[in-house]
Amino acid sequence: MSEVVIPRINGERLWHSLQQLGEIGADSSGGVTRLSLSEEELGARQFIVRLMKDAGLDVRQDEAGNLIGRLEGDGAVQGAVVTGSHIDSVIQAGRFDGPLGVVSGIEALRTIKEQGIRHERPLEVICFTDEEGVRFGAGYFGSRAMAGDWDEAWLELTDFSGITLKEAMERADLKPHKASLAARSREEIKAYVELHIEQGRVLEDRELSVGIATAIYGHRWLEVRLRGRADHAGTTPMKLRRDPLAAAAEAMLAAEQIALQADGVATVGTLQISPGAINVIPGEVLFTVDVRHERLDSLHEMEQAIEAGIARVAGERGLEASIRVIDGADPVQSASPIMDAIGRGCKALEIQEHRMVCGAGHDAVAMNELADIGLILVRSRDGISHHPQEWSSPEDCEAGANVLLYTLIRLSNDIT
Ligand code: GLV
Ligand code: MN
Ligand code: MN
Repeated sequence: MSEVVIPRINGERLWHSLQQLGEIGADSSGGVTRLSLSEEELGARQFIVRLMKDAGLDVRQDEAGNLIGRLEGDGAVQGAVVTGSHIDSVIQAGRFDGPLGVVSGIEALRTIKEQGIRHERPLEVICFTDEEGVRFGAGYFGSRAMAGDWDEAWLELTDFSGITLKEAMERADLKPHKASLAARSREEIKAYVELHIEQGRVLEDRELSVGIATAIYGHRWLEVRLRGRADHAGTTPMKLRRDPLAAAAEAMLAAEQIALQADGVATVGTLQISPGAINVIPGEVLFTVDVRHERLDSLHEMEQAIEAGIARVAGERGLEASIRVIDGADPVQSASPIMDAIGRGCKALEIQEHRMVCGAGHDAVAMNELADIGLILVRSRDGISHHPQEWSSPEDCEAGANVLLYTLIRLSNDIT
């Protein structure tokens, strides 16, 4: 590859595609709700298939519903260089979390094809099934299936209205019991590089447009059930109550302190109160805790301390407690040669290189089981994400996509 002419993606086309995709599943919050395998997400998938085809890619859907756009290599070298991300969203999300990576990947491959840029290895862009895990309580389904980590038990997980993953897959014309066939070998995939918005404040604070993730936090998702006794809110003296919601409040504050002390993060994002009436002491509560840390030993310690805190509070208040780990992934490290290739891309494009740890989860975590990974981050305005106001400027998105393009070209020609 010439070091003089630096190829560039079409920034206007990238932005236009991103905004078009953002219209699909637009909701009354001003953001996007496109839960995995919902009608909205299935509509967005059709848009992605069209975009991949317009880019001149060979398009297929694998058994786990991942959409794969491929450009065969110019050489006989096997082992594709792969990029990708997801287009499912959380509830009331922004337009960038996931879509930026998918649309930039398509744009990068389109640029390579249009400009006839040599790439010895095959290149692929993948739109993975259910990264967020919001609908069924576990995520990375598509990337885990591809990495050979599909779990058949996931098919029985249910969403808010009782629909199982199996049913949702069938409605999407997928064959749920074949999902494990999406597994690929290490020979097929040489490297995986994802582009994603930062979803935090590090780049903005440093006035940088692009970052290079050195590692990605691991996580544990806990589901906690506390059972006490529902009773009359007026006649039951405070001392005689077995109130699981008061206990949950105490457990949540304990989790907050544990996270602060461990330099990790812990979040209670869902809470169900039963029976849920203004004049009834709750009989049961169900809540989730999202626990994350950069280091595996600290992640384990946080998880254990939070579980012990819940057990203590339940014991003191005479409650039954049960805790289930419903999902989790260990922290992963980016591969040095891929970070170096991204760094060279930054240099070539006159973008200041900045290495940092990433707190958000990505398909790259699951793909790390299959191939070396790298992660390019793009500045998020005010660090806001998982929110309708999530925003990255057209200039920053273009800069990130150009770094991705450069990285893909280097890796697909085995230049490190
Ligand atoms: C995905 O966005 C996650 O980090 O939860
Ligand atoms: Mn997300
Ligand atoms: Mn994401």
